[in-house]
Order: sequence, then C-alpha cells, then structure tokens
Amino acid sequence: MRCQVAIIGAGPAGLSLAHMLHLQGIDSIVIEHRSRDYVEQRVRAGILEQVSVDLLTDIGLGDRLHANAMVHDGFYIRFDRQTHHLNLHARSGRHSYVYGQSEVVHDLIEARIATGRPLVFSAEDVAVSGIDTDRPTVTYSVDQQTFEVNADFVAGCDGSQGVCRTLAPAGAVTRYAHSYPMAWLGILARTAPVTAEGMYCAHPDGLSLHSMRGPNITRQYLQVPADTDLREWSDERIWKELLRRSESDDHPALETGEIFDRSLAHLRSEVIQPMQYGSLFLLGDAAHIVPPTGAKGLNLALSDACVLSHALGGFYRSGRTDFLERYSTTALPRVWQAQAFSTKLTAALHQLSDNPFDYELRRAQLQRWVTSEAEQDAMSEVYFGLPFPTPWNFH
Ligand code: FAD
Ligand code: DHB
Repeated sequence: MRCQVAIIGAGPAGLSLAHMLHLQGIDSIVIEHRSRDYVEQRVRAGILEQVSVDLLTDIGLGDRLHANAMVHDGFYIRFDRQTHHLNLHARSGRHSYVYGQSEVVHDLIEARIATGRPLVFSAEDVAVSGIDTDRPTVTYSVDQQTFEVNADFVAGCDGSQGVCRTLAPAGAVTRYAHSYPMAWLGILARTAPVTAEGMYCAHPDGLSLHSMRGPNITRQYLQVPADTDLREWSDERIWKELLRRSESDDHPALETGEIFDRSLAHLRSEVIQPMQYGSLFLLGDAAHIVPPTGAKGLNLALSDACVLSHALGGFYRSGRTDFLERYSTTALPRVWQAQAFSTKLTAALHQLSDNPFDYELRRAQLQRWVTSEAEQDAMSEVYFGLPFPTPWNFH
C-alpha cells in the first residue's frame, strides 16, 4: 500500500493527527497494535485544557464533548487542613474540561471510521524502516498476513513504550530524563466528588488528588513509593489513606464507595530532542513524558499533532518544507513549558523528602498560590493551556 503519512499508534496523538490531515485532504493510515476495545477502555487522563477543547471543537469533534464534559473554573488546593479554591476562570475567562481520555479516543475513532480511511487495530510486529530516506516503509501483520506501507512520512505516535522513539540512531537525538522515586496509585470509584472541582491535598506524608469523571464517578490518586505492589492495597487501605491525607476543618470527609478500577503510574519526565529524524516525526508520549501532576500529557499530544498537521499541510498544499524542518523547534518550547509547570506542581504537592525544611518550602509555595493574584494569573495561563504553536491547518 502507498500513502502519504503512516501513523503508528491510535492514541490521542495519532488519531487527532489522522483527522486533521484528512480535513486537509492528506491521506494516512493509522496502525495500532492493540484492539479497539483495549484502546477505548484504557483509563488515563481526564482534564482537557481550554485550547484543546477549542481545537477539538474546531475540527468537528465538539458535540459529545460539550454535551458531556464537566466545565471547571479551576481547582482546589488543601493543606494544613484548610481548603482553598483557585478560581482561575475569574482571572482569564477560560475553563478546563473534565472529559475522559477514553471519550476523546472514542470520538476520534468514530470520526476516523466515518472518513473511510484506513485504521488498523491489533496489528502485530509493527516495524519501521528507511526513515533516513524519503520513502520510509512500515510493515505489520494481521491474522498472520503481512502488509507493507510505503509512505512519504512516518508519524511516531506510539506512546512511551512504542518502537518509534528508539529508531533514531545513537547520537542523532538527546534524551533528557528525570525519574521520581514514586508513583500514583489511581482509582475510579462510584462516589460523588467531595468538592465541585478537582482537589490536590498536599499532606506532609504525600499527595492525595481527588478528581472526577462525572457527578457520581471519582478519579482519585495517592502518592505511593515507586516499588509499590498494588496487591498490598485493599479497598479499605486505599480509602483509609485517601481519608487521612484529605482531612480538613472546613469540609465533610470524602464519600467512600465501590472501587471499580485501579492502576499504578510511575512519575517521570523525559524529552527526546529533536522530535524528528529524517522522515520520522515523534509526537505525544513517544517524544516526551511529563509527570501527571497538572494534567498536561494528553494536551501536549494534541498540540504536537496540530504542529505536524500544519507543517504537512504546508508541504502537500504549497510544496513548503520549512515548516516540516522546524517541526521540532516549533513544538518543543511548549513541551518544556509543560515540563516546567508539571515539575513545579509535583514538587509543591508531593512529599519528596523527609526533611521538614522541604515541607516548609512547599508550604511557602502553596501559600503564594492561594493568596497571590499574580501567581494565579501565571497559573491560569498554563493550566488552561498556553496557545498552540501553530494552527492545525495550512492556509
Ligand atoms: P498513547 O495514549 O500512549 O497512545 C499510543 C498508542 O500507540 C497506544 O494506543 C498504544 O497501544 C499504541 N502502540 C504502542 N506501541 C505500538 C506499536 N509498536 N505499534 C503500534 N501501536 C503501538 N494527560 C492529560 O493531558 N490530562 C490528564 O488529566 C492526565 N492524567 C493522566 C493520569 C495518569 C494516571 C496517566 C498515566 C497519564 C495521564 N495523562 C494525562 C497523560 C496522557 O494519558 C498521555 O500523555 C497521553 O495518553 C499521550 O497520548 P499519545 O497518543 O501520545 O500516547
Ligand atoms: C487528573 C486530574 C488532575 O488534576 C491531574 O493533575 C492529573 C490527573 C485526572 O483527573 O486524571
């Protein structure tokens, strides 16, 4: 098969890129190694920036989102048993939206299927070759039959465990990485949220985060050591710790209830630079990982897709190569801003050391956030999303 762009991975990066390319008349194939059910049911992100919602609306994917998303003005921070609401909407006129990643992916899959363009699930042995030429090839097999795709470009959208991030030869890219000795134990529970918007509790013993996916579904996280064994965390133990870390003098205690999903996510930061080698472009988690604090990962995947869609639009519509050449330098500043933001939030909200000095430093930062209008202005700029570096389409 011959196509313009071969996209590896049907997560938010790959599917949104495929859709934006389709809208510009550029053909692509999306090759995903998991099943559709698996991809749609994977429990992950849940908070969309205003700029992401604006993009999804602009590319025709706003209907279900606007009908179902919870629209938030900001979030709560709790420390020293006191709860503070950061109304960032009041400072910026913008919002964040609670809309599960699985919903975003579902909408994108439906949109892709409606176009009739190829989307392959359960592909095995996905391999990419020839990225240092202008005719890269992707091979994969389905039901023991092997397929070959000859493309102009390959978009590596296969996440942090995929193959694309390993393809550039040693020395051609630099990996900047930082790992934390901790993880988030995440649950989904059938309970009503205790606060109307998400709440970060910066307990001296570690973060608890109380988010939601609907009026009666909560998504909650506990900071735990990196070597945590999930089997050692009974429902009872999870609720006890969530209750303990979120105790306050100004709100009722959390509601407890049935936990119907649990998982562990390790915290780490990584950026691969440049995000391009030859005819291979890396997007989303394949190019960079941010710690989940601040909810940036999915939003960054959409912003990378926007930048590449614009650059490919320039190439196919006007023969311009300069936007493609600048893909990495265009996308990276926003990536590093998200890294800086997530790192700062992570440091203030988690227990990263036993030294009481460090807790006092965290408290000083938290106090600035809940009292300073200048800090809240700065927070709202990044929390609701810095502008995407380019439009998604090329005019
Ligand atoms: P992925 O979603 O990982 O998609 C990659 C796809 O490629 C997958 O479908 C995978 O199956 C496929 N694939 C892998 N290898 C291959 C292969 N060899 N061949 C073919 N296909 C392959 N982000 C936010 O913005 N907001 C949040 O609130 C938020 N919360 C989070 C909470 C947690 C606990 C975690 C873990 C992450 C969170 N994130 C959040 C991050 C967000 O989920 C990711 O950044 C996002 O999924 C990145 O999208 P992606 O398309 O780049 O990668
Ligand atoms: C989620 C919410 C957050 O505020 C965050 O920082 C990370 C994740 C969530 O709802 O999954």
